[in-house]
Amino acid sequence: MRDQESKLSEAYGQSNDRDRVLDATDLVALIGESVPLKAKGREHVGLCPFHDDRSPSMAVVTHKGNAFYKCFACGASGNAIDFMINYHRMDFPDALRYLAQRAGIELQQRGGGESTRDESADLRKAMQVALRFYRRALADAELGAPSRAVLDARGISASMREAFQLGAAPASWDRFVEHLGRLAEHARTKDELPEQGVFERSGLVRQGQRGPIDGFRNRVIFPILDELARPIGFGARKIDPEDEPKYLNSPESPIFRKGRTLYGIHAAKKPIIDSKVAIITEGYTDVIACHAAGFTNAVATLGTALTREHARVLQRLCETVILLFDGDEAGQRAADRALETFFAVPVDVRICTLPDRLDPDDLLRQPDGAVRFKAALDASVDALVHLVAGFRERLAERPGAAGRQRVIEEMCQRLGAMGITDVPALRRRTVLQELSRVCDVPVHELEAALPRPRAAAAADTGSDGSGPLPQAPLAPVEPVLLSGPQFRARSMAERDLLAVLLAAPEVAAERIATPDGDSLPVHELYAPGVFLDPVARTLWTALHARLEAGLQTTVQDVMADCGEPTAKNLAAQLFSKGVARCEAPGGALARLTEAVADMERVLARVAAPTPQAVDDLRRRIDELKAIGRRPTAIMRSAREDR
Ligand code: UTP
Ligand code: MN
Repeated sequence: MRDQESKLSEAYGQSNDRDRVLDATDLVALIGESVPLKAKGREHVGLCPFHDDRSPSMAVVTHKGNAFYKCFACGASGNAIDFMINYHRMDFPDALRYLAQRAGIELQQRGGGESTRDESADLRKAMQVALRFYRRALADAELGAPSRAVLDARGISASMREAFQLGAAPASWDRFVEHLGRLAEHARTKDELPEQGVFERSGLVRQGQRGPIDGFRNRVIFPILDELARPIGFGARKIDPEDEPKYLNSPESPIFRKGRTLYGIHAAKKPIIDSKVAIITEGYTDVIACHAAGFTNAVATLGTALTREHARVLQRLCETVILLFDGDEAGQRAADRALETFFAVPVDVRICTLPDRLDPDDLLRQPDGAVRFKAALDASVDALVHLVAGFRERLAERPGAAGRQRVIEEMCQRLGAMGITDVPALRRRTVLQELSRVCDVPVHELEAALPRPRAAAAADTGSDGSGPLPQAPLAPVEPVLLSGPQFRARSMAERDLLAVLLAAPEVAAERIATPDGDSLPVHELYAPGVFLDPVARTLWTALHARLEAGLQTTVQDVMADCGEPTAKNLAAQLFSKGVARCEAPGGALARLTEAVADMERVLARVAAPTPQAVDDLRRRIDELKAIGRRPTAIMRSAREDR
């Protein structure tokens, strides 16, 4: 992921903040928190975390101006921001913000949302204050006794209590409130302790009838830590059987979104990256039991089904996700839901059913638990296979052609309802191939039976973060008339292609295989006039000209060349989207291939042609025969005609 960070910071005009943050960061200390480093001469060395290193190949160099790390074996290198992006898998703005906060620097380029950010900083401080209080309470001979008894009874060891930073909420109405009062008295500055409203908004303090009281009372505290082990919320289990509910959780806040948070991610991230597999369990105690038994790649969702956001977090880290279920029909339903989530995200999902309807915690507490747990993991089934197994059985029951067709259609309708048609072309193909293998139906038959894409069926707004999609082309160049949903799909494909090329212009030189057997660089595939979305076309015209001329190209070049503010804006948006996409497995080239496949798909799926359009098409086919097959040449000749 070479100098991704600097490309990004330039594009956002954040180079000033960036330099200040880098200057203020002690790179040895930063990396040293994740990788043991040893001083060697003027440098520090350690095992490289980016490959399977046996002898220390990574050097951290701080004495030559800009500090950097470099691995002499695998070539990984970069500055502090790169380390956060590549090791901690943060995106650029988060990395910058995190390092700034760490070094005590105020960022200048805040660009909106300031109040939210200050609120976030306050919430973080409040969570930190509470965590320290709960942890000290757990260690306290008297206050922590009930919680320690629960943890002892569950066999949660001292090292697990430490790793998951467990705590205790004392059995008192206002022990924490009192503690805050004392802190406020001793605080030297106003900034040290957030005001009480922040504690109330984060559920740590509540308004009782006679003043403020503690939000969590007489409960075992499971801190919810983010990827960097910073507390963002708490889960609190009752101790007294009479209390309700069993678990109380912090409310959502700007720093705590349940739909994207995975419990245990701070401890599981590295093992997930290393093993390329994530185990998804249902709760706090399951995660801790898994980690205690050596399954350190386990995380949990927080009482919600797995969301697309969870899936996106996970696909940055691994290739395979194993979902644990304790029941059968429930497992089947959950498998369906999980598929829906993961259709959109390129990871493999496996469904693991634990024996005897046990949850991981209960299973792992049995004498042979770890062995049985491992066996269940090994026996997990691909979610897609799980899903289509039923269809295969029904296919077998209906040998006739008509019955078979009916079953295939049903299955494809069902897959359509789960959103398979909105899945990027290449991923959909993989899914269909898998289906084809399982049911022994050719891919093209499946493809033909799929319903129309949802994105094309619903003409809603383009809310994919790349700006509004225009309703219809301003000046279609092609003799084919597109409007409404078809134009949207087309416009999205055009923008996706631009996103990849702006983020990774170097792949534009790669030859891409077209369905008709050609293999051409992308600028020869699509002449500027092929783009229908007017803003995308402005960008493509600028980019295309540079590619055709063989010029070095960056997003800034393209922005400068195209001049128009709308086009510039779109370029910046698409660029950051592209950078994020190109991080996914396969990198920029895989994204380019997908984008071209999508373009081909939308180009093939034009509106029902009018007689006029058919004539035009015939004429163009004749031209095509006359001048060869390259679309650029065709478009060029079309322009000359006018
Ligand atoms: P359990 O009901 O097994 O919780 O739920 P437990 O604490 O292990 O209780 P006992 O001792 O078996 O009765 C398993 C996981 O589901 C989540 C928790 O994360 C728990 O670890 N959970 C359960 C909740 O979040 N809320 C609930 O109300 C129940
Ligand atoms: Mn349990």
